Amino acid sequence: MTASVQKAVAGKTPLGSMNRSLRAAAGSKQDEFYTQLSDIEKELRHYTKHFKNKTVLCNCDDPKVSNFFHYFAHNFEKLKLKRLITTCYKNCDSDLFSKSTSESGLHLQYNGDKNGNRVPNPDEIGVYPLNGDGDFRSKECIDLLKQADIVVTNPPFSLFREYVSQLVAHKKNFIIIGNQNAITYKEIFRLFKENRIWLGPSIHSGDREFGVPDHYPLKAAGTRIDANGNKYIRVKGVRWFTNLDYKERHEDLILYKTYRKEEYPRFDHYDAINVNKTKDIPMDYRGAIGVPLTFLDKFSPDQFEIIDGLNRYSILNGPTEKTRGKYLAQVNGAPIYIRVVIKNKKL
Ligand SMILES: C[S@@+](CC[C@H](N)C(=O)[O-])C[C@H]1O[C@@H](n2cnc3c(N)ncnc32)[C@H](O)[C@@H]1O
Repeated sequence: MTASVQKAVAGKTPLGSMNRSLRAAAGSKQDEFYTQLSDIEKELRHYTKHFKNKTVLCNCDDPKVSNFFHYFAHNFEKLKLKRLITTCYKNCDSDLFSKSTSESGLHLQYNGDKNGNRVPNPDEIGVYPLNGDGDFRSKECIDLLKQADIVVTNPPFSLFREYVSQLVAHKKNFIIIGNQNAITYKEIFRLFKENRIWLGPSIHSGDREFGVPDHYPLKAAGTRIDANGNKYIRVKGVRWFTNLDYKERHEDLILYKTYRKEEYPRFDHYDAINVNKTKDIPMDYRGAIGVPLTFLDKFSPDQFEIIDGLNRYSILNGPTEKTRGKYLAQVNGAPIYIRVVIKNKKL
């Protein structure tokens, strides 16, 4: 796909080392981590039914290098999409071989295969300049957002909070990849509690590899360079965040332990028991239970409800008169890592 886009954008035949040139040019931007096609495919296969007749927007994506654009353009007919829109932030020079650092953005529109070869050809992809730099918060990008049904991308992590709040404000469906730390942001945690966001099914542990620009220091831990000179880095704690439903999230966690007072100590300053491993949640406990953040990888909204998050203070309420100066995620005088407070809905 990238070759088609390269031609569509540049209007010239790409050279073999295109990928490297693009990554080098992209290096002047911030937050450059390119999601691998295989990771996109593994997640997106769970949502196929949601895409029929829908307009998809990838709004943090240089279409020349984005595997999100690649995925949707190549699966346009299979998913029965209505339209694919992609916007690119800065550096979207129509001359791909220019090393200039263009400040302008552009957007692409693809309405599906016209010549029957089931492949997105350059002349089937509409390429349009943007007036500004393609910032997802700009008016022209918000106008494109309004046309979309589902937003799918890997947004800049430094703007994750703002990015999600814009999607929610515009009532959009989304599948986005980010860092699990974002769960503990108050605004995002509230969305988890209200069942307006949840984790996707394909990544529950380990790390994932992302493409990085040429300037990325190879000495950094977890980096590698492939035979074509492309650089990659492995990133821990990555998760998909979505508000589109999928089958697996309605499967109950199988519990086998029964509650025993001695085995489940209470928090020192919060009315709940502590459970260190999700699998050890007692199946017969009706009250509040503090579980690790990784519980959310197995969370079924049919089985449990989320009450709050505990760190130093309540994630949702911050310090209050009653809790100021205390440490809420604390058991027998020892602070422990963040806990999600849940209750079993089925008891
Ligand atoms: C983590 S990278 C992901 C790129 C691409 N979505 C992918 O997964 O391969 C985030 C992208 O957002 C772009 N970006 C940074 N700030 C932006 C903004 N304010 N508006 C839109 N895009 C932005 C960056 O240039 C970068 O390409």
